[in-house]
Amino acid sequence: MCGIFAYLNYLTPKSRHEVLDLLVNGLKRLEYRGYDSTGVAIDSSENKDIVMVKRCGKVKVLEDAIAEHFSGHEFDAPVMTHVGIAHTRWATHGVPCETNSHPQRSDEGNSFVVVHNGIVTNYKDVKTFLEKRGYVFESDTDTEVIAKLVHHLWKKHPGYSFRELVEQVIQQLEGAFAIAIKSKHFPGECVASRRGSPLLVGIKTKTRLSTDHIPILYGKDDKSPQTCEKEHRPHGQTRDLSVLPRNESTSEFMPLEGKEVEYFFASDASAVIEHTNRVIYLEDDDVAAVRDGALSIHRLKKCLDDPHAREITTLKMEIQQIMKGNYAYFMLKEIFEQPESVVNTMRGRVRFDTKTVVLGGIKDFIPEIKRCRRLMLIGCGTSYHSAVATRQLLEELTELPVMVELASDFLDRNTPIFRDDVCFFISQSGETADSLMALRYCKQRGALIVGITNTVGSSICRESHCGVHINAGPEIGVASTKAYTSQFISLVMFALVMSEDRLSLQQRRLEIIQALFKLPDQIRLVLKLDNQVQELAKDLYHHKSLLIMGRGYNFATCLEGALKVKELTYMHSEGIMAGELKHGPLALIDDRMPVMMIVLRDPVYVKCINALQQVTSRKGCPIIVCEEGDEETKSFSSRSLEIPRTVDCLQGILTVIPMQLLSYHIAVLRGCDVDCPRNLAKSVTVE
Ligand code: M6R
Repeated sequence: MCGIFAYLNYLTPKSRHEVLDLLVNGLKRLEYRGYDSTGVAIDSSENKDIVMVKRCGKVKVLEDAIAEHFSGHEFDAPVMTHVGIAHTRWATHGVPCETNSHPQRSDEGNSFVVVHNGIVTNYKDVKTFLEKRGYVFESDTDTEVIAKLVHHLWKKHPGYSFRELVEQVIQQLEGAFAIAIKSKHFPGECVASRRGSPLLVGIKTKTRLSTDHIPILYGKDDKSPQTCEKEHRPHGQTRDLSVLPRNESTSEFMPLEGKEVEYFFASDASAVIEHTNRVIYLEDDDVAAVRDGALSIHRLKKCLDDPHAREITTLKMEIQQIMKGNYAYFMLKEIFEQPESVVNTMRGRVRFDTKTVVLGGIKDFIPEIKRCRRLMLIGCGTSYHSAVATRQLLEELTELPVMVELASDFLDRNTPIFRDDVCFFISQSGETADSLMALRYCKQRGALIVGITNTVGSSICRESHCGVHINAGPEIGVASTKAYTSQFISLVMFALVMSEDRLSLQQRRLEIIQALFKLPDQIRLVLKLDNQVQELAKDLYHHKSLLIMGRGYNFATCLEGALKVKELTYMHSEGIMAGELKHGPLALIDDRMPVMMIVLRDPVYVKCINALQQVTSRKGCPIIVCEEGDEETKSFSSRSLEIPRTVDCLQGILTVIPMQLLSYHIAVLRGCDVDCPRNLAKSVTVE
């Protein structure tokens, strides 16, 4: 949640005007992560002071405010070395307003300014500690304690480097964070750190980098490897900050010293890809510091299995992937990308000539998975729905018990987990806090962890024992669309791998593999329904509610369709299991209640027709989603959408697309911001 973007140019002349453009552009790329309020901090041209501009609202508002703020100022002169930090916020502590926007500051003189993602759970204790020492807080944020704590330590320990100060600070913080800090006392330096919230460093040099890794420097006191236990402090007790041991690094290795270099600190790769494809994904408790143009990565303690260096990764992402192109919204682009994204999910995995499936990321674990007690599929929101959508097929092809769990509820229940459980964590971002907490919970109990993610280098990805990258490409629209269909296909491929050697299942496997082959073209056909769906949206957009009914393989589509409608249009919508109709929901039906019903020719067809009859006999006028040419089913209503026939277990991929399109068109007609629905953000890194 929230987006951090920081930029440091070292011996690379840039005017402050250019720096501001760069920061604003970085924020625009990250806006999908949160868009309540925004802010930037740069050096003033007049003196060493830091100037901040903050605004409530989206990045565009900030952009206009910056233009106004700096008009008439001299900010076109090149500056050789400079640090700027920026933030787009999704409010957790304190309403969205200018004072609560980031950067947060240490004092009226803006000595230290901080941008922060995540939640500092012990901020009240730290705040009390600082208030007792005379600090006066101006915002309602948890972030402000970070800025003020650095300031406090700086006054107390004038000899400490910027990086050492930040190291001291993060030892005091509990909860999740990613931070980037700038200080007028340490011009040209930037220090960043993370714990539980993603952060990467992009590196841009004129010449090829001479190294593909940055060594990690460990604290002096901890040269000998040891098993790190997280220090336990009773809740509410802040350590005496005056007696903390200073943690000097073993050396100051500076691989890029003296060279022209630019650094980008960002919450995700989409913000840096237009500048560089060379990035380092920081790990929890890394402290990355740039001083005199040199980047160094520090950790306080060395654990036995800690690596010696952080690898510089080359991003495979293309800039076009994060641009809207000719589409009005990212969501629309992503819906229309699905014929290609499902191919990318299957590429190199499903061999249509030999009718075989290989999942490189989990192949070595398949024997262990086959011996497991049960499969648990865990996720949130849309990712959870992909588990619901594939559960039946997984039960059929793996012949194992399959439990499907919402990560938050799974944790609330302290669900029993055993060493012989296999737990799948499904997450587009790979950073969803509830899913990540559930993953750690299962890992601690010895279960095998399989990640199904779309984000290379994400926390879920890194903390899983094995996994499948769904390869859907960057998904920027807050509403998940192509990630859903790719998660769906990834789980189908897993079921196919698990049943490879089951003779009795070969015919079924063949039928599914053949259907997968036809799927991209069938998705193209479904996308051609767009105009028809738009017309339906015109009938529906002024209503208060929309019920979506189905059962069997299509129940997940009902849940997912209803989630899309709620999220994007702010209308009430409910996905209803058609089998439950007469146990309550039927009472909602009359001639005015908008209803969609999915009625396909599969094993539950007769039961769906039953439900359809119950609805029409209560004067309901459902919009029916049925199979192409199914006149009998269509005859129940004047409005229908026909989708191509496919194997039952893949129907959900085709039926969800009209729901995605419908929610999109209703949102446009209702004047909603499609890519940035109110109160939401793409990546939910707080519990
Ligand atoms: O990144 P994740 O897949 O873990 O995110 C989980 C949910 O927050 C997400 O799917 C959410 O429900 C979507 N915005 C719905 O469109």
